[in-house]
Amino acid sequence: MNIAILGFGTVGSGVAEMLTQNKDLLAKRAGKDITLKYILDIREFPNSPFRDLFVKDFSVIEQDETVDVVAEVIGGAGIAYEFTKRALLAGKSVVSSNKELVATHGTELLQIAKEKGVYYLFEAAVGGGIPALSPLVDDLAHNKISEVSGILNGTTNYILTQMFSLGAPFSEALAEAQAKGYAEKDPTADIEGIDVCRKIAILAALSFGEMIPASAIHTEGITAIRKEDVQAAEKIGCSIKLLGRAIKEAEGDLYVMVAPFLIPKSLPLAEIAGVYNGVLVRGNFVGDVMLYGRGAGSHPTASAVVADIDHIARGTVARPAWSAAKDGTPSDFSSFFCRRYVVAEGAEQSAIGIIFGETEPISGEENAFLTPMMSESTWTDSVERFAACGGKIISHIRLY
Ligand code: HSE
Repeated sequence: MNIAILGFGTVGSGVAEMLTQNKDLLAKRAGKDITLKYILDIREFPNSPFRDLFVKDFSVIEQDETVDVVAEVIGGAGIAYEFTKRALLAGKSVVSSNKELVATHGTELLQIAKEKGVYYLFEAAVGGGIPALSPLVDDLAHNKISEVSGILNGTTNYILTQMFSLGAPFSEALAEAQAKGYAEKDPTADIEGIDVCRKIAILAALSFGEMIPASAIHTEGITAIRKEDVQAAEKIGCSIKLLGRAIKEAEGDLYVMVAPFLIPKSLPLAEIAGVYNGVLVRGNFVGDVMLYGRGAGSHPTASAVVADIDHIARGTVARPAWSAAKDGTPSDFSSFFCRRYVVAEGAEQSAIGIIFGETEPISGEENAFLTPMMSESTWTDSVERFAACGGKIISHIRLY
């Protein structure tokens, strides 16, 4: 079986390394050799051990009938989309780490793959090296899933962990993450929740059968979280984590969101620290399943790309499938209920009780309290009424 890698960056070089280092193991499993035939990249790599494999023209790969699987690790939804489509139409399976492409064009690409009798697989797109998708497509697919939630971004989890352990403000923790090479120079997609939005869209599509566009997913990042919020969370035995959540309620509503949550430390998600990722799957017979591991990086992500190649080589693929989101999916976020951590100032204390209901003060934290369960729309109305009394919300984080 012959492989072509598109893109020789962090992930692509890891895939080339793994296919080479574990060649015997992969061949033994598949009963045939798995050979890296081409690497597509516009840059020159004269000192690379793979230097003889480089090509600059995608049509060389497209027209080579001996290439069975293309590993697309370019990223983005531009040229990667074009090459993926052309590879599938040429009858080649495509494996990918590209969450943006899967979230935006996955429905169409899966359809083309099915029609051509090949595969479009993307285990590496969510949770890096964690086998987060294959259980949803296969081992847990006979369960009715009521929730799939996760810490899906290593950069933001590292920043939040540093804010907790060092008491650092957000800007300092971000600067440190950049200095260590965890956060990109332009960290917008990570810190604004955009990366998690794409990942939870994929998890929700596999769990609940419909791909929800990013524009329909309520998305918040971590930039508003203050050092004081971290300290208050500690006081009530919680961590603050950026979560992607997809929740199917008994009544049939499906809520999908990205937002920071206060999570009680008794729950495993609360303890996932640093650049690690974790995914919680709740099934009606299996109960809670936690998947934990490295969510980014060359070798872990390469491991997930090669897992898809290994499945294709052994003929053990469970084909991912979903349809485009229908009208009414997801449910209107304004009717999502939860408790909230709030810091408010500027109004009479009595106004808080009147407007937010039976609140629970956080001892030692001036003006910080927990609200009772309330919907998003009630919350928005309450904030407006509070502002009319001269009050101001300094901080607001939902409780898991
Ligand atoms: N920027 C992503 C993260 C990379 O920090 O998790 C992996 O998708």
